[in-house]
Amino acid sequence: MTAVLLENVSRAFGATLAVDRVNLKVEAGEFLTLLGPSGCGKTTTLRMIAGLEQNTTGRITIGNTVVSDADRSIFVAAERRRLGMVFQSYAIWPHMTVFDNVAYPLRIRRRPADEIKQRVMRTLDLVEMQKYAERPAPALSGGQQQRVAIARALVFEPEVLLLDEPLSNLDARLRTQTGDEFRKLQKRLGITSLYVTHDQEEAMALSDRVVVMEGGKILQVGSPEEIYQRPGSRSVAAFFGSPNLLDAEVTASQPADAGYFRLDVAGRNWRGHCQAASRISPGTRVGVLVRPECIALTARDATADADSIRWDGRVKEMIFRGSRRSIAVETAAQVLRVEAPSQQPVAVGDSVTLTTSARTAWAIES
Ligand SMILES: Nc1ncnc2c1ncn2[C@@H]1O[C@H](COP(=O)(O)OP(=O)(O)OP(=O)(O)O)[C@@H](O)[C@H]1O
Ligand SMILES: [Mg+2]
Repeated sequence: MTAVLLENVSRAFGATLAVDRVNLKVEAGEFLTLLGPSGCGKTTTLRMIAGLEQNTTGRITIGNTVVSDADRSIFVAAERRRLGMVFQSYAIWPHMTVFDNVAYPLRIRRRPADEIKQRVMRTLDLVEMQKYAERPAPALSGGQQQRVAIARALVFEPEVLLLDEPLSNLDARLRTQTGDEFRKLQKRLGITSLYVTHDQEEAMALSDRVVVMEGGKILQVGSPEEIYQRPGSRSVAAFFGSPNLLDAEVTASQPADAGYFRLDVAGRNWRGHCQAASRISPGTRVGVLVRPECIALTARDATADADSIRWDGRVKEMIFRGSRRSIAVETAAQVLRVEAPSQQPVAVGDSVTLTTSARTAWAIES
């Protein structure tokens, strides 16, 4: 079942097209994340779904209800859309207790006192904050405050939860912990969630699917694995970490398993195989994506098996990071970045051989 449907949705602010003909289907129970650099239109998209902003073209449907249609002048007000919202700036109210914060959406809807008590306590229980009900809001940690904000968004049982960078005020450790907790809660409740972040790791850790946006447009939609391992364009590839992209020419292309294609490619002073989403004609130039953590580094002259791509080179830079080493290796093709286990002894100047499996090398046409 589709929970939220965007069809050809745009939003112009004067000459700025903040969101440009976006088509997107959010399935019921799904955790979908809008990811993209600052100014790419994430918040505007969320605000249009919330009804806080009106789309200048297209149609938005929530469940079975068209809530906004630019052509037919339909616009359902924000408070009549059954949505819960957690925004970065929607801090909880400091002059109220935890209970009163969560009760607020029900009080403004004039629900009876006993119903309010029951629903607030049940919702606080969901986020494991029941025992803090009488605490004044400021006497909570950042993560606890965020759980109260989530409880407040959930208390009137919305069909969809909208979250705009809800964790960005927390420090790194708490951000991961609160994110993981929220993911568990979301799965347990099965609540459709549309989440906005510019943090790639957060997006991958939390989401069922990720929508990568740039300049108001959707670049790619897919599972975290698809987006990370099989990006459709250089922009999507470059959005995650610092990948190696090697220029190469396709010399052969044949169907492989799982609907992919296996290419023979020739680059500057190297050749090998990689995978691609579609058949690519011989002679076409492609970028071959090799993630730094997919490269094995060994002492020079180790024999590489036939299904690996191999480059010989010299270590140019090495940074010890505790859990791993970030290494730059000068090869006859180009400088390649490698993320190696930290226990592996490597020093600047070492002669090394780099190998990667043809299954993890991915060809990008555009
Ligand atoms: N009320 C407004 N009036 C004019 N321009 C706006 C308005 N709101 C947003 N914009 C513009 O629309 C574009 C998209 O903004 P939006 O807030 O959706 O980006 P974002 O992806 O959420 O960015 P960030 O990661 O920085 O929050 C930007 O160029 C922004 O300047
Ligand atoms: Mg924003």
